[in-house]
Amino acid sequence: MTVTIVGSQLGDEGKGGVVDIYGDAVDVVARYQGGDNAGHTVVHDGTKYKLSLVPSGAIRGKVGVLGNGCVVNPETLFDEIDTLRERGLDPDVRVAERAHVILPYHRALDGIEEDEKADLAAGTTKRGIGPTYEDKAGRRGVRIGDLLEPDVLRERLEYVVPQKKALAEEVFGKETGEEFDVEHLFETYREYGERLAEEGMTVDCGTYLQERIDAGDNVMLEGAQGTSIDIDHGIYPYVTSSNPTAGGASVGSGLGPTVVGQGDVIGIVKAYLSRVGTGPLPTELGGVDGQTPDYDATTGAGGDAEELATYIRDEGGEYGTVTGRPRRVGWLDMPMLRHAARANGFTGLAINHIDVLAGLEEVKVGHSYRLDGEETLTMPPTTEAWGRCEATLKTFEGWSDVDWTAVAAEGYDAIPEAARTYLEYIADELETPIYAVGVGPGREETVIVEDPYE
Ligand code: GDP
Ligand code: IMO
Ligand code: MG
Repeated sequence: MTVTIVGSQLGDEGKGGVVDIYGDAVDVVARYQGGDNAGHTVVHDGTKYKLSLVPSGAIRGKVGVLGNGCVVNPETLFDEIDTLRERGLDPDVRVAERAHVILPYHRALDGIEEDEKADLAAGTTKRGIGPTYEDKAGRRGVRIGDLLEPDVLRERLEYVVPQKKALAEEVFGKETGEEFDVEHLFETYREYGERLAEEGMTVDCGTYLQERIDAGDNVMLEGAQGTSIDIDHGIYPYVTSSNPTAGGASVGSGLGPTVVGQGDVIGIVKAYLSRVGTGPLPTELGGVDGQTPDYDATTGAGGDAEELATYIRDEGGEYGTVTGRPRRVGWLDMPMLRHAARANGFTGLAINHIDVLAGLEEVKVGHSYRLDGEETLTMPPTTEAWGRCEATLKTFEGWSDVDWTAVAAEGYDAIPEAARTYLEYIADELETPIYAVGVGPGREETVIVEDPYE
């Protein structure tokens, strides 16, 4: 059977950690979208692993698959595998032959376009994600399978590279180097193809996963990013270029929707909001380096918003895993979560980071929005309307800091009562049961209520 892990907000909700806590019963962990824009953290025995492409199951020695819906930068992939090997792990990673390859010109163009876009820039990770998905949709992409066939690789590059070079030079007026040179790219990527072949890493993803399921194995589908930065369901254009939502788990793995739908779809929720990148954020507190508008004091957080934001940012280590950028923070946004619960069909929730909020006198949530004079419970479809939304806050009593490892060992009832009230409010509003509660970054710092593989 499968279990799908989906970010319910803006990414960085703690998906890697949840993959790890349930990972013991899992045989194969597959990513179904995104690329090395992801940064998934697993903390085990005081050791921290940050993974951008290798699926998080690698920490427990599980087979990892990069599905056809992913965009793969072979350089990052091999660097990551080599680094994990140096750290004593032995990652077994398979890559879908249908997955698209991120080439150096994609990265270059990602940077160029971000600078050009000014106010419309999404604040991308500059990993070439958008340009690679563009080429996939434009039917001019290079796929992993093409790296294994030098003639095909050459043909693809000879077609596409001159166009990219012209785009960079003539449209954007940039100087280009070897990242736009067919010969250089051909040699480099042919070698990546050889390594993929030598290490037996490529698979027909859907067939491979279905065979493992038929043999009785458990598969976990590890989403990257989150619902509100999904290209279809997120706050366009401040989004990534793939579908982190649960539908993407089927398309991007090659398993049928009825197969994925037989298993749980677990929404990973951070107990407050954080985001790297631009765009409106109705429950935002304070701002980062003047990047974002100051929080509107009339909505309840008062003049302390900046201070509160800094407190939560520091307690939660809210600095980007990939880029180190300070993340913007805000209160939990319930309309965003209602939208996510519906778009993904969550069957369970993992709510993380309740330890980070400990010590605050009051904890607030954006219960609904006020949009053009009307009260609304879910996100509007346009980002412009979302930008006009004012959060109507609901206040909860805070909870104090406790020995969270002891709480995790004892179970759900050991969670401070005020925090349980907060958790149950979320579960009730989303009509979805709580499967796990994160009370710290480590494997032993999670209260497991339900195990989806049992
Ligand atoms: P992902 O991209 O969704 O996998 O999340 P990231 O790894 O980018 O960001 C989550 C961060 O929070 C990581 O540093 C995790 O180790 C950490 N984390 C995860 N769950 C918890 C939790 O319940 N409490 C605390 N304090 N940290 C957590
Ligand atoms: P994980 O898997 C948080 C954001 C970027 C930017 C937008 C587009 O760790 O949760 P992209 O490089 O994808 O074209 O950038 O999406 N973004 C993420 N934010 N967590 C992530 O991944 C993200 N991946 C991309 O900051 O706003
Ligand atoms: Mg992350």
